[in-house]
Amino acid sequence: MKRDFLTLSDLTEADYRVLFDRAHALKASRKRKEVVTSLAGRHLVLVFEKASTRTHLSFEAAMYQLGGTVTTLSSASSQIARGETIEDTARVISGYADCVMFRTFGDERLNAFAKASAVPVINGLSEGGHPVQILADLFTVEERLGSVKGKTIAFLGDCASNMGRSFVEATRFFGFELRLGCPEGYRPAAALLAEAGGRVHVTADPAEAVRGADVVVTDVWTSMGQEAESARRMKELHGYQLDEALLAKAKPGAIVLHCLPAHRGEEISAGVLDGPQSAVWDEAENRMHVQKALLEKLILG
Ligand code: CP
Repeated sequence: MKRDFLTLSDLTEADYRVLFDRAHALKASRKRKEVVTSLAGRHLVLVFEKASTRTHLSFEAAMYQLGGTVTTLSSASSQIARGETIEDTARVISGYADCVMFRTFGDERLNAFAKASAVPVINGLSEGGHPVQILADLFTVEERLGSVKGKTIAFLGDCASNMGRSFVEATRFFGFELRLGCPEGYRPAAALLAEAGGRVHVTADPAEAVRGADVVVTDVWTSMGQEAESARRMKELHGYQLDEALLAKAKPGAIVLHCLPAHRGEEISAGVLDGPQSAVWDEAENRMHVQKALLEKLILG
């Protein structure tokens, strides 16, 4: 029976412990320049319906470094752009690949792809969430601060975004408190907040969200596909920029995360992104290490 990774709820708290332990081990092996060939003879297909730098490169590097092979397909350069259904595409890929990563728009499209696929499907970002990014983020927190459990994470800006939603979902598996700092209209749906129980606190005051936090996270204010709303979003989110003054309200030694790409001077100041508390470059690198562990889990079981 194949196992997909479409949302964080597709794995358990116990699975995440094993996954992070394996990712730490794989990262250490890589730093020692050891060769790992656990996925030799296996093939991964990456399908992109949206642009990507990190997801594209980190999945390719992960698969090749584990001895496997990869094909990357963009919808624009394939028959998807000429109307071939996503279900037919998934059935065809199933004959060639051991795993597929799909980056798309709506979750209906992601779910339809996964249903038609005979091999495991990984969500490489959809409107509903960005679960592989959250794994890299929380792995980075563990690496920098020793553990995720018991920590307070503040997320600022568009908290209804895929990153905001996945952070809310993650509170159910990783034992941290989440503070969302966002204006009205940028809050996750009430049903999602209710599922998180009492672990999520929402405030319109960014200083209240950040005060005493161990980790401060932000993301772009205009996600892919929202370009027409950019001017309005910029105006409404204006007071939520993560700058030095706001970061000073977090715990001394707090770390800053941003999944990138970043817009210096919009959601984050250049001084914070490039400053001593920023963990964003480790966060980006950790995409690869965590995804290696995830690929092994889904392909080898
Ligand atoms: N963070 C992230 O998913 O980056 P890309 O859009 O470049 O893949």
